[in-house]
Amino acid sequence: MDIQGKTKVLGIIGWPVAHSLSPLMQNAACAALGLDCVYVPFPVPPENLAEAVDGLRALGVAGFNVTIPHKEAIIGLLDDLSEEARLIGAVNTVSRDGDRLTGHNTDVTGFTKSLQDDLKFDIKGSRVLLLGAGGAARAALVGLCQAGAAAVTVANRTPAKGKRLIADFSPVFTGANLAQCTLDVLKDDCRLKDVDLLVNTTAVGLNGTAFDDIDLAPMAPTARVYDMVYNPALTPLLAEAQKHSLLSANGAGMLAAQGEAAFTIWTARKPPNGLMKSRLLAALG
Ligand code: ATR
Repeated sequence: MDIQGKTKVLGIIGWPVAHSLSPLMQNAACAALGLDCVYVPFPVPPENLAEAVDGLRALGVAGFNVTIPHKEAIIGLLDDLSEEARLIGAVNTVSRDGDRLTGHNTDVTGFTKSLQDDLKFDIKGSRVLLLGAGGAARAALVGLCQAGAAAVTVANRTPAKGKRLIADFSPVFTGANLAQCTLDVLKDDCRLKDVDLLVNTTAVGLNGTAFDDIDLAPMAPTARVYDMVYNPALTPLLAEAQKHSLLSANGAGMLAAQGEAAFTIWTARKPPNGLMKSRLLAALG
């Protein structure tokens, strides 16, 4: 579709942003549905965030994604927040209604949708071990608790951060049993045995990194493993899951699904099934 005077502009702000695969996914969806919109990357250094948001308002940009390092800092510059964005304290999608900008966090539905689609995992009543306690872990925890997980244990390298996350969410999600521990849990056969889903939300797995001496043999044969890392596609954690014939998936499905959810917020349309994911996988090679 040619860009014209009435073309709606969408985009993403981040620093850096050149590596982002969102323009590819979002423009593919616009084209497939024949929508007159274009999605543009905007590199915005941290010190320019406030000016950039003013600029996006002034230019009438219809909606945009927010990535590292702005996901938390942007909150003070917005008019409204969705329930998820407020709970997580981070925004990855901004919609516009007249002059008002609303922050959303579509990582939550991105994660739970990928669990359903890629692992056929039923969250309700499940027991989950979550590795990491950063922003991605907060999104996962909100998604799991909203969908009725029975128990979530957060295992983090720095215990204080895991404790803070549990302290933040225990009063909110009283229906779930929330606990925290260290990454030593990965060496505890008894603990691994009782887990329905193991999720890695840390960057471990990127750039050839791996958890020490990981052995998933104690996990139940029906248990699933999800790694939010998607590059490489087969992380050491996922290789270990495959070794024990555990159903597993990487984070490509989550990345595509958070993009689909953002697209729907902006356009009120659903991208064709599987389109964003196939574009993403083709780009990742
Ligand atoms: P994100 O938004 O992707 O979650 P983040 O908020 O910076 O990023 O959080 C990164 C998470 O990965 C943290 O839980 C971090 O552990 P610490 O709290 O101990 O820093 C975890 N992490 C990063 N590198 C790690 C490593 N090499 N081993 C174990 N955990 C790691």
